[in-house]
Amino acid sequence: MKNLLEVSDLKARYDRSQVLHGIDFSVAPGEVVTLLGRNGMGKSTTLKCVMGMLSTHVGEIRLEGRQISGLPSYEVARQGLGLVPEGRQIFPMLTVEENLLATAANRHQSAQPYDLDRVYEFFPRLKERRGNMGNQLSGGEQQMLAIGRALMTNPRLLILDEATEGLAPLVRADIWRVLGELSRGGMSMIVVDKNLGPLLDLAQRHFIIEKGRVVWSGDSAALRRDGEVVEHYLGV
Ligand SMILES: Nc1ncnc2c1ncn2[C@@H]1O[C@H](COP(=O)(O)OP(=O)(O)O)[C@@H](O)[C@H]1O
Ligand SMILES: [Mg+2]
Repeated sequence: MKNLLEVSDLKARYDRSQVLHGIDFSVAPGEVVTLLGRNGMGKSTTLKCVMGMLSTHVGEIRLEGRQISGLPSYEVARQGLGLVPEGRQIFPMLTVEENLLATAANRHQSAQPYDLDRVYEFFPRLKERRGNMGNQLSGGEQQMLAIGRALMTNPRLLILDEATEGLAPLVRADIWRVLGELSRGGMSMIVVDKNLGPLLDLAQRHFIIEKGRVVWSGDSAALRRDGEVVEHYLGV
């Protein structure tokens, strides 16, 4: 099967410090994969490279076989990659609804595009708050809005960086519910998160990154079995 996204030998640096030393991973159509690893190992940097937000990288990044490495981030977004960034970064001075409409597009002629109604179905709370400004929202509501905003671009690949970070357990559960529904609806995703339990259920394959290299990859069954890998690379 042809991969939706294929990253090979990705290297990146900030100024003179090399952070990624050759990352390889792929996402098949409809697949959910995770990038796992402790803080500072290079997960967000990898995502930034994929999104065209860090120009100091070399290596191949292919979307459906076409090289997208080197494209500016707006063009990468147009090609169908939607990022829910670490720290959410919604527009604070726009309302919930304006935030959602700001990125709305159905560039790939999806038959059932994500629009306001569908986002509000996923997150009824956002509908209740649709007239509120971004800066009046709770952390959980901001996160829902960040996901909703990425969905409004109708991405072919949804990328989430620490989407449940700092949220209360109930709000987290709500986010996992929505990601599960999206996956069952066929959405391809890359998920970076600290909560291994929900990730084992949500994702099919996992890539553990340590110091800018993929040191382990495998499916959820393999990761469940391999307590030593979890302890060694992810244990605190
Ligand atoms: N803007 C930056 N400038 C310089 N170094 C950075 C920057 N962002 C991240 N780093 C460094 O790059 C490494 C990888 O960071 P990051 O990709 O954010 O890790 P992760 O997302 O896995 O926690 C860390 O050593 C971090 O300190
Ligand atoms: Mg990070």
